Amino acid sequence: MSAAPSRRRVAVLISGRGSNMTSLIAAAKDPSFPAEIALVLSNRPEAPGLATARENGITTVAIDHKHHLSREDFERAMQEVLEAHGIELVCLAGFMRILTAWFVERWTGRMINIHPALLPLYRGLHTHERALADGVKLHGASVHFVVPGMDEGPIIAQAAVPVLDGDTADTLGARVLAQEHVIYPLALGLLAGGRLTIEGARVRVSGEAAQTSALVAPQVA
Ligand code: GAR
Repeated sequence: MSAAPSRRRVAVLISGRGSNMTSLIAAAKDPSFPAEIALVLSNRPEAPGLATARENGITTVAIDHKHHLSREDFERAMQEVLEAHGIELVCLAGFMRILTAWFVERWTGRMINIHPALLPLYRGLHTHERALADGVKLHGASVHFVVPGMDEGPIIAQAAVPVLDGDTADTLGARVLAQEHVIYPLALGLLAGGRLTIEGARVRVSGEAAQTSALVAPQVA
């Protein structure tokens, strides 16, 4: 029997419930998935996702940003923990702290984020409310490489969902979230599998189903 190929060691950074983290953990339970979730790190010790991670046998660390004098100080503490655990890739999954260029540059090409909108539309907060206020008919989610600008960076995968007449921010957000749980494992699999190349603002996907694997089309719920 040949040895299993090595899997990339991933840290998932969370601040809250961690449903995207859970979708990554579920994907990584498949031994053929090219990444393992080696660590879940939160800036909020009370984040419910930490308990979920522990229930799945994953090491967790909480680094309370309020106990650090500056953003840099907090990030140095995170960097030390990531290095101590041999982390190779970082997934931001509802991690609600702005990161400095110092930290981001240490993870260039190795840190990705999920955002609940079709970037470059609706960077920042309250994306579902803003989509409804604008009357757009399509909304969605994006996974992108992290660069110093907030919610900027080359896009790896997107999912589009319809905006329906009776939608509220909650119903629309739930439709988007279901697709987040599809595209985040997909994007991590592509990154950890070495299938992504960044060319300027664009991300090229190589290998099987390269043209379509990073696009999830609209589906009426
Ligand atoms: C998700 O909808 C994620 O896209 C969003 O926070 C939520 C976290 O939920 N992230 C951002 O808004 C970052 N700009 P989760 O904790 O259940 O994964």
